[in-house]
Amino acid sequence: MLLEVKKIDAGYGFLQILRKVSLEIDKGEYVCLVGPNGAGKSTTLKTIAGLIKPMAGEILFEGHPITGLPGNKVARRGISYVSEEMNLFVNMTVQENLYMGAYTVRDKKLQKERLDFVYNLFPRLAERRGQLAGTMSGGERKMLAIGRGMMSSPTLMLVDEPSFGLAPQLTETVFDSLEILRNSGVTIMLVEQNVTKTLEVTDRGYVLENGRIQLAGKSSDLASDPHVRKVFLGV
Ligand SMILES: Nc1ncnc2c1ncn2[C@@H]1O[C@H](COP(=O)(O)OP(=O)(O)OP(=O)(O)O)[C@@H](O)[C@H]1O
Ligand SMILES: [Mg+2]
Repeated sequence: MLLEVKKIDAGYGFLQILRKVSLEIDKGEYVCLVGPNGAGKSTTLKTIAGLIKPMAGEILFEGHPITGLPGNKVARRGISYVSEEMNLFVNMTVQENLYMGAYTVRDKKLQKERLDFVYNLFPRLAERRGQLAGTMSGGERKMLAIGRGMMSSPTLMLVDEPSFGLAPQLTETVFDSLEILRNSGVTIMLVEQNVTKTLEVTDRGYVLENGRIQLAGKSSDLASDPHVRKVFLGV
């Protein structure tokens, strides 16, 4: 297993959100985590990424414990986290923001290769390499955040709601780029509100409700599960 999350309890201060959350991801898999607003999806990704210290449980990456490691250490192990908030440097250019994503990559030549890879994936970013990130449109900023997440050549990418607030056409672009990433061998854990589309494209999924994993299985099975259909698809 590439990632093993074992019975994680986590939250904010004394407020516990996640309750015995367990999940596994194999190398090369495309896995989703879906659930209602406030279920704890982002909290789960933040805990894996090392931004929240779990109260209990264990996280293994490539067989080694990473539980409680700070975010920068987790990133160096090969886990890239693209947050909902994106945290772009608004007063820096697109290209400067991308290079910030490669801080774990020492080799300048390798950094340039990554930059070309990202520009190839998102020609829009290449066109706007000199523009300040803060003046990019919402969709373009999303693209930039994903592009920055790819700059470190991660083994595992945790992507939180990449399509949120995007027009349908840009949503397609985002899903297409995740597909390209996946085909290049990157393991992806995707959190998404667009459950129908997400269950179409991913291999497996977990359903999180009130901080607990309620269901897990192949995405195609989840898509036809009566509970999933009732809760997420309104049928
Ligand atoms: N920094 C924080 N301090 C206190 N509570 C928080 C904090 N961040 C999130 N929470 C709470 O934790 C719970 C889970 O939040 P989380 O962001 O993980 O949900 P989510 O499943 O990602 O929801 P959404 O689909 O709306 O993004 C929510 O009740 C939220 O209010
Ligand atoms: Mg969230």
